[in-house]
Amino acid sequence: MLGEQKVSYSGVQPSGNLTIGNYLGAIRNFKEYSEQYKTFYCVVDQHAITVRQIPAELRRRTYETLALYMACGLDPEKNTLYVQSMVHEHAELAWILNCFTMFGELSRMTQFKDKSAKHADNINAGLFTYPTLMAADILLYQTDVVPVGIDQKQHVELCRDIAERFNQIHPGTFTVPEPVIAKSGMKIMSLADPTKKMSKSDENANAVVYILDDRDTIIRKFKRAVTDSGSEVRYSPDKPGVSNLMSIYSCFTGKSMEEIEREFEGKGYGEFKLAVGETTADALAAVQNEYKLRLADKAGLEAQMKKGAEEASYYARRTLSKVQKKLGFVQLH
Ligand code: TYM
Repeated sequence: MLGEQKVSYSGVQPSGNLTIGNYLGAIRNFKEYSEQYKTFYCVVDQHAITVRQIPAELRRRTYETLALYMACGLDPEKNTLYVQSMVHEHAELAWILNCFTMFGELSRMTQFKDKSAKHADNINAGLFTYPTLMAADILLYQTDVVPVGIDQKQHVELCRDIAERFNQIHPGTFTVPEPVIAKSGMKIMSLADPTKKMSKSDENANAVVYILDDRDTIIRKFKRAVTDSGSEVRYSPDKPGVSNLMSIYSCFTGKSMEEIEREFEGKGYGEFKLAVGETTADALAAVQNEYKLRLADKAGLEAQMKKGAEEASYYARRTLSKVQKKLGFVQLH
């Protein structure tokens, strides 16, 4: 809570082209809080460097992610949209929280285990302490809710544990946040391997539908999507490929699984996949048009980065200073 107002906070890494997983699992849901809550949505470039990035690409994607936030309907007048590295309090609080986070807790994080396996030549300390920086992001703004996909739930739960531990020693410091996981779209799976999460870092571009893919590409990718044996469109654990496509279709149309099963009764996978492709392309067209306009206005994006960082810093500074005082750091006035 900030004053009387509840707070929603979330972030996206500018570490690759954003996917419909990022859109359906997270960004699309950010807007819901814009009216009632104080909202902060961040482009988390400091998290992105836990894996090697090409500097020019990281810079470009930082602009793109901000443009995409706006294109997805986040009005900068109603939401604080900003870039993490422009608010130095994040890294400072992260250090402090490192001293309140246990080695064993960080070792248990599944994302750390997955990323260590994937980047075995670069298991750096930042990859390990990634969740404490994420906790700092969230706790600096006295956050109540964190809308994320299911893969980030474990990190938000660790953030709660850290906040509770800190509050126990220094009462009344942090609001303890709740993860909010969308019922539909919380885990969109790869089109090539429906047992794996759709991920922006997937090397197989056909496994992933990017928010900015053009219409023909989207339709082609869905046509090629791996489906299951049989020919029936049915939502079931033994049909992970079809079930994933049904989830995507349901997210974009608002139809229930039963309605979708009825709609495609007696029709084959081909017709179903085409419908999913066309519906997705239609739904993303408006976002893509708005994105192009936003991205073309570099000065506008930079003005927003500056304004967003100033807005965020105001609150971040207040929380960090409270924490420093509680810890016994000398404060000169
Ligand atoms: P990132 O950049 O990996 O993903 C951004 C958001 O997209 C969601 N997501 C998905 N949802 C459904 N299906 C998928 N296939 C899928 N792939 C990704 C993620 O759950 C996430 O919500 N650590 C975070 C970024 C972060 C953050 C924060 C989030 C940094 N600080 C503070 C919330 C609050 C991450 O790597 O997200």
